[in-house]
Amino acid sequence: MVKSYKLFINGEWVETQDALEVPNKYTQETYAKVSKASEQEVTQAVDAAERAFKENPMPPYKRYQILKRVSELLQENKEELAKIITAEAGKPLKQARTEIDRATQTFEISAEEAKRIHGEGVPVESAPGSENRMAFTIKVPVGVVGAISPFNFPVNLVAHKIAPAIAAGNAVVLKPASKTPISSIKLAELFEEAGLPKGFLNVVVGSGSTVGNQMMEDSRINMYTFTGSAKVGMKLKQNTGMNKLILELGNNSPVIVDKEADVEAAAQNVAAKSYAFAGQVCISVQRLYVHEDIREEFQKKFIEAIQSLNIGDPNDPDTDVGPMISVEEAERAEQWIEEAKQGGAKVIHGGEREGALLQPAVLTNVTNDMKVVCEEIFAPVVSMIPFTNIKDCIEEVNKSQYGLQGGIFTQNIDTAFYAAKHVQVGGLMINDSSQYRVDLMPYGGVKGSGWGKEGPKYTIEDMTEERLVVMNLNQQ
Ligand code: SIN
Repeated sequence: MVKSYKLFINGEWVETQDALEVPNKYTQETYAKVSKASEQEVTQAVDAAERAFKENPMPPYKRYQILKRVSELLQENKEELAKIITAEAGKPLKQARTEIDRATQTFEISAEEAKRIHGEGVPVESAPGSENRMAFTIKVPVGVVGAISPFNFPVNLVAHKIAPAIAAGNAVVLKPASKTPISSIKLAELFEEAGLPKGFLNVVVGSGSTVGNQMMEDSRINMYTFTGSAKVGMKLKQNTGMNKLILELGNNSPVIVDKEADVEAAAQNVAAKSYAFAGQVCISVQRLYVHEDIREEFQKKFIEAIQSLNIGDPNDPDTDVGPMISVEEAERAEQWIEEAKQGGAKVIHGGEREGALLQPAVLTNVTNDMKVVCEEIFAPVVSMIPFTNIKDCIEEVNKSQYGLQGGIFTQNIDTAFYAAKHVQVGGLMINDSSQYRVDLMPYGGVKGSGWGKEGPKYTIEDMTEERLVVMNLNQQ
């Protein structure tokens, strides 16, 4: 049966005339319907957030209690939520379960951080003429946070936006990805059950060109947190004036397998982390630089490891690689592979498509100007690039317009340190691939990959303002 969902505005469930159909990404049949927000509902959502923030500030212990309760509820409802992710995103069930465990952590860490938001003493009295003054800073919430989230982690990347925002004392207007809105509606249900006062979380579903644009233009929204394409991120940056922003944008993660790597471990690791969720993770391995001395051995082990992945129905708990988010996206990736082939690339494994299911692909003989290398492919496609000199290799790696996370496999400590200093990324993994993330760590890129960091402690920095308080005292 197709279930219908409503919007969540000012603590109420709101039904609208217009409904968005959400397909099951494996069967392509309609899985759920959800009310679509018009201009009126977006305005009501921002009104509610502004009112909640101004009229009903929440003390930190209350924010802690609510976020902690949501983390518990996530575990209590884990199976239901994981199945929703699998249906609306096509994410293999075992990866969807991991996502719920990670979101549990994101809420728990945010709850803990809510009690640690503080400023510091500022020794103004040490400046001549200020002998009679004392000063300190306090951290105040920014106000209304506009959150726009992507399809690929419909629970945990939403958690990374709303949990720190609420921990910091802000109110949120959330626009989830139109392809995966049900997870956010379920999260709103958990917040309601946890006792969140009305207006602190509002969920409005709709397209970027309607809901997203309206949010971008509403001057009552004080900061934006966005994960998605570099194009939309740039538009947000250009149109939101002096507002604060966290942008998690595109990437084409590099991983280097040096001649002094543990080749077997590297091959297993890279195979698992290139194709999880069909490569639709911002830190999936895309550019794989392999030292010529070990290339043959690595390639053999890498292909063997790929062959042991289970591919197909995301509902099967053993599946490692399921469908992409849509047939159109799989066709787009297939087209990029075709263009690379026309330019001389070779597909040495996979690449066949059936509907939204694209077989894990490995390309060689690629060049830097091919889309499969220089753009973010966001698909289960890896390009293997040989190298002979590590310094030249890192120069190649750094030619990318992006820099979110990268990885290097090497047993040589000097090479590892050289890479740590020179690879232009927000995070470098040593003896691991680019796709490593736990939810407390700072996560965010350089160059075209964006601004600001996720990870509750770091996001809270961006979601608060530092205010200086100086006391002019009468007595010495
Ligand atoms: C992302 O795709 O940016 C999120 C990756 C993750 O949280 O593991």
